[in-house]
Amino acid sequence: MARHLITSALPYINGIKHLGNLVGSQLPADLYARYLRARGHEVMFICATDEHGTPAELAAAKTGEAVADYCARMHSVQTALAQGFGLSFDHYGRSSSDQNRRLTQHFAGRLADQGYIREVVEKQVYSHADNRFLPDRYIEGTCPNCGYDKARGDQCENCTKQLDPTDLINPRSAISGSTDLEVRETKHLYLRQSALKGDIAAWIDGKADWPILTTSIARKWLNDGDGLQDRGITRDLDWGVPVKRGDADWPGMEGKVFYVWFDAPIEYIGATAEWAEANGADDAAWRRWWRLDEGAEDVTYTQFMGKDNVPFHTLSFPATLIGSGEPWKMVDYIKSFNYLTYQGGQFSTSQGRGVFMDHALEILPADYWRWWLLSHAPESGDSEFTWENFQQSVNKDLADVLGNFVSRITKFCRAKFGETVPEGPAWGPAELALIDTLTTRIRAYEANMEAMEVRKAASELRAIWVSGNEYLQSAAPWTVFKTDPDQAAMQVRMGLNLIRLYAILSQPFIPFASASMLAAMGTDGADWPTDVAQALQALAPGHGFTVPEVMFAKISDEDRAAWEARFQGVRT
Ligand code: MF3
Ligand code: ZN
Repeated sequence: MARHLITSALPYINGIKHLGNLVGSQLPADLYARYLRARGHEVMFICATDEHGTPAELAAAKTGEAVADYCARMHSVQTALAQGFGLSFDHYGRSSSDQNRRLTQHFAGRLADQGYIREVVEKQVYSHADNRFLPDRYIEGTCPNCGYDKARGDQCENCTKQLDPTDLINPRSAISGSTDLEVRETKHLYLRQSALKGDIAAWIDGKADWPILTTSIARKWLNDGDGLQDRGITRDLDWGVPVKRGDADWPGMEGKVFYVWFDAPIEYIGATAEWAEANGADDAAWRRWWRLDEGAEDVTYTQFMGKDNVPFHTLSFPATLIGSGEPWKMVDYIKSFNYLTYQGGQFSTSQGRGVFMDHALEILPADYWRWWLLSHAPESGDSEFTWENFQQSVNKDLADVLGNFVSRITKFCRAKFGETVPEGPAWGPAELALIDTLTTRIRAYEANMEAMEVRKAASELRAIWVSGNEYLQSAAPWTVFKTDPDQAAMQVRMGLNLIRLYAILSQPFIPFASASMLAAMGTDGADWPTDVAQALQALAPGHGFTVPEVMFAKISDEDRAAWEARFQGVRT
């Protein structure tokens, strides 16, 4: 038994996530966490909402709520959706927690003590009407390059030229529209990442087994252009972790907060501390996951994220941890994902394009989505969601192969032998051959799961389902029954035991269906089938079962067309 720490990138608090977000981090992380638990390992699976920053402030302003209220409400919305999708976090925290505030201030203090922080006086645009400094992208004006009149202070969307807010002609606040702006001096803290470049490069060089997608992005940012630059870690905002040096005030930094990307990854640790508190455990309980000097030496830490998050997790967050000079647990493996596209275009939160988590659960059970998303995870490149492909996979894999197997064998048994497992003779050659095939495939499935090869694991699982169907097809107990009921009883006993086996193996992918299969078989899924022959004896003759409800209803052409139409426009 090993100890596994697993984190999924923290979803932003503002708004409901789309299926592309889900498959890029939380869902595959859940798959892995469920698998490792099923294998008997000790797992700590952590996620949280990423709550700070200007987007949260603006979203709250739009709904008229105080930002803290808005975040509390959206956190419970996201918690309910996570539960709806069966995401099995040990804790779903909040980056606005006290634990994260204390840890963030602690890290900043340590970094300063180690000489990795410098103070910089900068010029920044202040809006009198809004009563605040404006981040570059919240200043709009006319592009000096192409004349586009909605250029942003960081970049012109029209001609792509990178801009400084002071380049804009007729600048105005994107929040209020006010032109009453002033350039003011303000002091900020910079993390001296450049001074940590050697340490970070050496650390990444030690990760030969990481996916190319991860290391290529890390190396690009490490070596391209000016390489690893010092990074501003504070902002002139109200909403965030107040800038402090440990417990002490930071002279000159009053009224400022840490930049959201500084405190967000620290929340991986913060959320584990929240977990301890929520479970009435002491600090040692979370520190044994995070501190090498307090038990984390034997922890394997895996992170899941979309490719856009890789630079922050391979460079910035490691810089915080290394720079602290303390023995914090660093990530062992980063599993990153490409993008899921939607019907030939992008999923887009800002434009509301695609299917979002709440609507997905309104129209179909979570397992349908989990199965499709995971079996089409964008691992080696982007992958595309189309309604047609979704309908096909669900109908074929879940309804025809798995669902049909379960209903056929349980109904046949009920009709001929009643609702208990029948006996019959010992396994014959066909059954022994099946056990061989399954053993090979299950070992391959395990290897893929351990390697986090999500699509390969899904196709191995599908092949495992298919081999049961093929067995049943050729054994044909419904025909055999007419001449040799005893032989048919044995075949049915095999079939019922296969249902239990499938439920256990499928649980990481489709936990809800798996639970109803186990409930119907009157058993729990406690034992992983390390010995397949033995696993197929688990339901002994005389054991009671019930016929489950239809597990997977097929998606009709009408439904598909209706959903395609409903989700073709923008989210309302
Ligand atoms: N909220 C960020 C995003 O959705 C991810 C933050 S991951 C963290 O892109 F670790 F930094 F929190
Ligand atoms: Zn322009």
